[in-house]
Amino acid sequence: MTIDFKDRVAIVTGAGGGLGREYALELAARGAKVVVNDFGGARDGSGGSATAAEVVVAEIEAKGGTAVANPASVTDFPAVEAMIADTLSRWGRVDILINNAGVLRDKSFAKMTLDDFRFVLDVHLMGSVNCTKAVWDAMRDAGYGRILMTSSSTGLYGNFGQANYGAAKLGLVGLMKTLALEGAKSNIHVNSIFPVAGTRMTEDVMPEEMLRLLAPKNVVPAALYLVSNVAPTSTILGAGAGGFHAAHVTLTHGIMVPEADRTVETVAARIAEITDRAGETVPTNGAEQGGLVMSRLGELKA
Ligand code: NAI
Repeated sequence: MTIDFKDRVAIVTGAGGGLGREYALELAARGAKVVVNDFGGARDGSGGSATAAEVVVAEIEAKGGTAVANPASVTDFPAVEAMIADTLSRWGRVDILINNAGVLRDKSFAKMTLDDFRFVLDVHLMGSVNCTKAVWDAMRDAGYGRILMTSSSTGLYGNFGQANYGAAKLGLVGLMKTLALEGAKSNIHVNSIFPVAGTRMTEDVMPEEMLRLLAPKNVVPAALYLVSNVAPTSTILGAGAGGFHAAHVTLTHGIMVPEADRTVETVAARIAEITDRAGETVPTNGAEQGGLVMSRLGELKA
């Protein structure tokens, strides 16, 4: 099976370098028309220039592909709306949105200012919300859409010094889960990726040999699959260095406790049973989780 993107229109945010650039190059090589968005600032989000995106567009065009540069900051909703309006008037559709733009402002929580916390949430979480909001109606009207959120192992599992980043990155998974439900009837599939790659974001935390093994192109197969016509929805894939994985938010079987025993002491005494992972499930929505409890009320009468 060959997966192509012929005549698809894709927007990749933060595509002036790193992972976004690789996604844009491969989408274009497989026939998509690509909006290469990048604000062009430093790793901490300071500065800004249109050049980064323009360089990638020139690379795509040199290989015979079709692309246009856009320097909007994903934090600037009117500029994001203008990017989408421009894309629709230029190419008539938006099939794919890859929310990839990102910054870092790492510090231990004790030393982190609230400004640094808010800024990182604003770029990753609100930036993805802004872009998704701006394409949502067009995708609904077209009855087709593929949206990718960029999460992180930090969001899923934590990492010292990245409280702001981790909060934003798991927030994106929460956003994905509800948008996947709301988009389903319009054939809008929403997924998340948690990459690991040697880019300027990670260059000073990884040794050179590891950076080589973690070439960003290794993430491309998972990212492009998640925005393809055969994409699943509400799936969280990890990719890097040839590894591909899925992450799930699981629910243990837990225990049902009669009213008289619902005490702090019961939870303390039975915590091993509550957290036992044998037979855990992955509910497909929040109501299903509540329903699982209700379906077991009969156990209390026994
Ligand atoms: P990168 O720093 O090379 O790329 C991020 C791009 O986003 C830059 O080109 C930057 O100019 C752009 N950008 C930043 N703020 C922007 C804004 N407000 N509007 C538009 N563009 C903006 O880093 P990398 O590694 O390619 O990161 C891409 C995504 O992958 C990020 O969301 C990052 O958090 C995520 N990620 C990367 C991992 C890695 O191992 N490299 C691990 C987990 C997640």
